[in-house]
Amino acid sequence: TTVDVDDDDYDLDGHVDFLSKEIHEQPAALRRVLAGRLDTRFATARLDGLRLDPRELRGIRRVTFLGCGSALYAGQMGAALVEELARVPADAEQASEFRYRNPMVDPDTLYVAVSQSGETIDTLAAVEELQRKGGRVVGCVNVIGSAIARQCGAGMFLHAGPEVSVASTKAFSSMTTSFALLALLLGRVRDLSAAHGTRLVDGLRRLPDAVEHTLAGEPEVAAVARKYAHAKSMFYLGRVRGSAVAREGAQKLKEISYVHAEAYPASELKHGPLALVDAAMPCVVVVPDDEVVAKNVSTIEQVKARGGPVIAVTNADLPDGLADAVLRVPRLEPELDPILLGIPLQLLAYHCAAELGRDIDKPRNLAKSVTVE
Ligand code: AGP
Repeated sequence: TTVDVDDDDYDLDGHVDFLSKEIHEQPAALRRVLAGRLDTRFATARLDGLRLDPRELRGIRRVTFLGCGSALYAGQMGAALVEELARVPADAEQASEFRYRNPMVDPDTLYVAVSQSGETIDTLAAVEELQRKGGRVVGCVNVIGSAIARQCGAGMFLHAGPEVSVASTKAFSSMTTSFALLALLLGRVRDLSAAHGTRLVDGLRRLPDAVEHTLAGEPEVAAVARKYAHAKSMFYLGRVRGSAVAREGAQKLKEISYVHAEAYPASELKHGPLALVDAAMPCVVVVPDDEVVAKNVSTIEQVKARGGPVIAVTNADLPDGLADAVLRVPRLEPELDPILLGIPLQLLAYHCAAELGRDIDKPRNLAKSVTVE
């Protein structure tokens, strides 16, 4: 499939920078990701570009996502989705580590190379190493005709349109949405029921509008950013569905605002990092309205007890006054909520960077794609 790219994609289109433009393009980008890929009749996804028939899909015994930076964090969200919906073991690995550690390549694993640019040298080298050892690898790539897309020869294109800003936003949410489709497809050739599949198909259809609704909350996020942008360091905490959301949120803050940020599983807080929490350490806590919401509430209470300011990103009804700031997203479907919970964290990083006067589209020391080691 190809997508027409018109010259307007390289205009700022009324935005002050490309990052703002690309953040706001997400509803349209996600509509393109989903176009023609939702199958209402069979409550599943269609990913013909994978070139895998149902018998081959059934034969997959593990899914391993490979990527760098935000593509890796997208892969971690993908692995969680595959395990939850298809009950197939799944993981995500840094492509750079993979290529150098003499990996054991399993012919029954589906390897997914994740890359916006399709040119990241470590990810390309991991694909080549996999293929050399007989691994089955598909791409999840934005740029058509890129090295990784060509090398894989099969996969899912993102159709997110050109991403100019160094920090990935619309490509990231397009990746995670594609992985929800992959997980749905793998689930439906196994034991995911038609009713469950229908709920997810409906949720995915509602996703672009829910992102649009979340983006409308930008003024509130900007106000929170102005309050906390001058912190020296921030923690990003999440558990289970919130873990990778926290990692990607911390990555965005570091990358464009140069504020140090560290993501931690909330459950690990008491095993060390809690010692760092005081009034100067804002903690961003990702709180999906799921089975572990009470655990996340208790994490917030523990941070507050040490004087740490808390910014909660949530679709749950948290007790009044629990957090110092609450960034709300709509409820969608529990499995898909992580995609939405990441959106306010993009805006938070953006507005912290703006408050600090950073070069938002071209952060120091970084290139859009890392094509040399
Ligand atoms: C994302 O905000 C970063 N700029 C970076 O981590 C990026 O995701 C990584 O370099 C991978 O790039 P790719 O998706 O083009 O392979």
